[in-house]
Amino acid sequence: MTRSDARESALTAAVRAALHAPSVFNTQPWQWHLDGDAAELYLDSDRRLEVVDPLGRLMTVSCGVALHHARMALAAEGQGVLVERRPADGPPTLVARLHMLLDHEPTDDERAMYAAIPCRRTDRRPYSDDPVPGAVAAGLVAAARREGAVLHILRPDQVPAFAVAVARAGDLEMVDPEYRGELIRWTNRPPWSNDGVPPTTAVRPALRAIPPREFSLGVERGMHPGSGTDRGALFAILTVGRDDETGWIHGGEALSAVLLTATAKGLATAPISDVIEVGVTREAVRRLLGTARHPYAAIRFGYGAPATDLPAVPRRPAHEVIASVDDGRAR
Ligand SMILES: Cc1cc2nc3c(=O)[nH]c(=O)nc-3n(C[C@H](O)[C@H](O)[C@H](O)COP(=O)(O)O)c2cc1C
Repeated sequence: MTRSDARESALTAAVRAALHAPSVFNTQPWQWHLDGDAAELYLDSDRRLEVVDPLGRLMTVSCGVALHHARMALAAEGQGVLVERRPADGPPTLVARLHMLLDHEPTDDERAMYAAIPCRRTDRRPYSDDPVPGAVAAGLVAAARREGAVLHILRPDQVPAFAVAVARAGDLEMVDPEYRGELIRWTNRPPWSNDGVPPTTAVRPALRAIPPREFSLGVERGMHPGSGTDRGALFAILTVGRDDETGWIHGGEALSAVLLTATAKGLATAPISDVIEVGVTREAVRRLLGTARHPYAAIRFGYGAPATDLPAVPRRPAHEVIASVDDGRAR
């Protein structure tokens, strides 16, 4: 295999690894175009959640997560890559262009994040009483900072106000019939669509500080909550300096870095975004943090039951989301 063939196959493998990325409502709002040893990542705007995400913030964050997954796969395989975010010569849907560079010496963190990609799952069950050690929490903060975001870990005295904001966001969304329609659409997908949030991943009610988002309107929630109470859980908010497409892409990369770092350390994770989707509660979160920065995601971390107990969540097949110049489907 020539050096250029090796780069091409590393790129294809990295883009396939990125298909595991988490996304809002599991919309998987991305399209990849491969051209030799370069790749382009596009937003699939048809998959934007019109009610939940009118600006496309969470759609763009989700693509940023996929971009970071691909970057970690390449880095761990020793492939250097140059990433242009929102290149000026591309359409507004072009998130990033990746160009392969010379070899790269992977760091331990990059290897660990890459290895965590297939193990990471959103676990909505309550976590155990075991606290997250300070050094592990510091590693999560550092992972976000390396990607240009700040992870604000909530102090125990801030959690009740955060819980109020999350509950308020849930109530405000749920009274909107258009929201309920969108939720029902994305939680009752036909099996061939390979997207959406299956009700099997929703958790039955349990006593806990912050109940997870309601994902099972009128259908049986699949999962038993187990014995956890979330007493040891950490709640954290990610913020970026700019509330625009570039900020959201970097934000998604930081969300990926934090989730994969946590998974590598044996933590369970669950993103929370309803509190961000509703303007008044996003503002309440910002005031709680006392920052001028922009919150774009919240996350719960903790020690959970084994992730292997979690039901499968679908992913769209590679041929639907990856087009290549070789097969005549990419520009
Ligand atoms: C930007 C973003 C926002 C999300 N918001 C929520 C949320 O509010 N509540 C929730 O339970 N899961 C949320 N998730 C998790 C997705 O539902 C989950 O990633 C998707 O269903 C795929 O499942 P998996 O993470 O187990 O692979 C979010 C994920 C992302 C990337």
